[in-house]
Amino acid sequence: MKIMNEQFANPQGVVGKLAGFLMQAKDKNQSSWVVSNSRIKPNTKVLEIGYGPGLGIESASGFAYEGFTAGIDISNVMLMQASKRNSENISKGKVKLLQGNVNEIPFEDNYFDMVFSVNSMHYWEDLQEALKEIKRVLKPGGEVCISLHPKWFKIEADSILLREEIKASVETSGFKNVKANQLNLKPVSAFCIYGIK
Ligand SMILES: C[S@@+](CC[C@H](N)C(=O)[O-])C[C@H]1O[C@@H](n2cnc3c(N)ncnc32)[C@H](O)[C@@H]1O
Repeated sequence: MKIMNEQFANPQGVVGKLAGFLMQAKDKNQSSWVVSNSRIKPNTKVLEIGYGPGLGIESASGFAYEGFTAGIDISNVMLMQASKRNSENISKGKVKLLQGNVNEIPFEDNYFDMVFSVNSMHYWEDLQEALKEIKRVLKPGGEVCISLHPKWFKIEADSILLREEIKASVETSGFKNVKANQLNLKPVSAFCIYGIK
């Protein structure tokens, strides 16, 4: 179990490839739910952090079909899986995937209209530092969307408590109009925190 947890944090080698396939099975609907509830438009420039096997990238680039979709993930195994899944849009220059850490996003200031992340934030070393870095690459008026499905909880109240803690962190880091949406899943709900720079 510990081995699989480590693999979801930073998938490596053969076990990492397996973790990627498990993520595809579990997290598809959550990624499209997050993106479809955001302010994404056809010409949006969007970044996903922790794209895993690349389902969120596929969904975002479908909405932002006249824009640009980028992604960073700490794992080179996920870079390979997600690149395969999104190869057509990569070759057209509509999608760009990189290996990278949320602590140091390899894009210039004020570049993206929207930055989102699904089931990755609980692996980040320092949430406040990560939010600061996300804010740096967002344009003024740009949107952050941070989603998590805390499957390790058994009680709904625990998910709600965590949701409120993360919402407070997003507010503390200076985002405006911060709101939380909920997706009814088992064993507890997933949530997404949306905020505006
Ligand atoms: C559980 S997976 C979720 C993947 C995908 N978002 C999904 O919903 O299917 C978590 C992903 O976050 C990535 N990750 C973890 N820490 C990261 C960090 N500090 N910066 C960027 N990506 C990170 C992992 O490599 C992994 O691909």
